[in-house]
Amino acid sequence: ASYKLLLLPGDGIGTEVMGEVSRLIDWVNDSGAATIETETDLVGGCAYDDHGEAISDATMKTALEADAVMLGAVGGPKWDGVAYDKRPEAGLLRLRKDLELFANLRPAICYPALADASSLKRELVDGLDIMIVRELTGGVYFGEPKEIIDLGGGQKRAVDTQVYETYEIERIARVAFDLARKRGNLVHSAEKRNVMKTGVLWNEVVTQVHKADFADVKLEHILADNCAMQLVRAPKQFDVIVTDNLFGDVLSDEAAMATGSLGMLPSASLGATDDKGMRRAMYEPVHGSAPDIAGKGAANPIATIASFAMCLRYSFDMGETADRIERPIADVLDQGLRTGDIRQAGCKTVGTREMGDAILKALA
Ligand code: NAI
Ligand code: MG
Repeated sequence: ASYKLLLLPGDGIGTEVMGEVSRLIDWVNDSGAATIETETDLVGGCAYDDHGEAISDATMKTALEADAVMLGAVGGPKWDGVAYDKRPEAGLLRLRKDLELFANLRPAICYPALADASSLKRELVDGLDIMIVRELTGGVYFGEPKEIIDLGGGQKRAVDTQVYETYEIERIARVAFDLARKRGNLVHSAEKRNVMKTGVLWNEVVTQVHKADFADVKLEHILADNCAMQLVRAPKQFDVIVTDNLFGDVLSDEAAMATGSLGMLPSASLGATDDKGMRRAMYEPVHGSAPDIAGKGAANPIATIASFAMCLRYSFDMGETADRIERPIADVLDQGLRTGDIRQAGCKTVGTREMGDAILKALA
């Protein structure tokens, strides 16, 4: 098979960590498992410097034609003064919007070697592997009306509106059930049906989708506040958690802290299916451009490498090759290699390139 992958390294450490992914792409191509054709383009501050927009129409067109997009990170203090609609993040927002990326996948994986860096006790997180599926384009962040009304007399009223329609819940539920089949076959659907109408509909639609097409997957409904509590009490009880935009924002950050480090967290955003029947998708590390360490060759490339593995698994149907990349990540950590962000007594601190070298060497 042959795939088109658009690489958007972006700013700061984005270019450094993406460099390690490029070497993995060469390895995949050499292995003969598939042909990945790449194109590299600008997004974020570097695009603004080049042509005055955080992403150009031409780049957007390439993104729409690609089978998947990989993004490094955007932003940095250099562009603090740039107008709102031209700032680096605007490039990201346009990609999310134009690719219709409605499902945000945030795995929280705790590698045994890093379990002591978790904010939770080692026995709670050692070997943790959960996937939070957050609805990304609906809900209270976008619902109308959204306003602040001056009531006079020093009083104001702020209004946000949570809106969900059946089709939005249906498509995100399908993504979650599909994923569960490739993982632990368990989905927790988190909402607040006890106090929210959107929670009632969420519960109803997820139940229907499950009954109609995914009865082989185990489904549990959980109130979102209880889910937050269970995530710190006994996170290993979860496999896939599917939830709305707001709860997903909070729960995914909470789950992230169980894993130890920002430099370790990958993500995927999935969208509508294109005319070739392929789901649009963008893969990126959760971290930003880390201006404090940019240009020093010190960034941890693991989040981006793990994002590439997700791309192989979910966009290119190359789960086996993804396994062959993910296993070495655990191996090099077991060997005691650490980048600065996960520095640990008794371990060897290495830079971006050395970490990439070690993972390449450990590839099966
Ligand atoms: P950040 O994630 O860039 O950095 C937070 C801290 O974590 C820093 O101390 C940084 O050195 C460290 N860190 C992050 N990733 C690392 C890695 N791979 N290896 C080693 N250390 C790492 O978040 P911050 O500082 O809030 O934002 C910096 C810039 O990045 C801002 O301009 C912000 O807007 C942008 N940003 C971009 C994102 C994206 O492109 N998706 C997401 C978050 C922030
Ligand atoms: Mg957040």
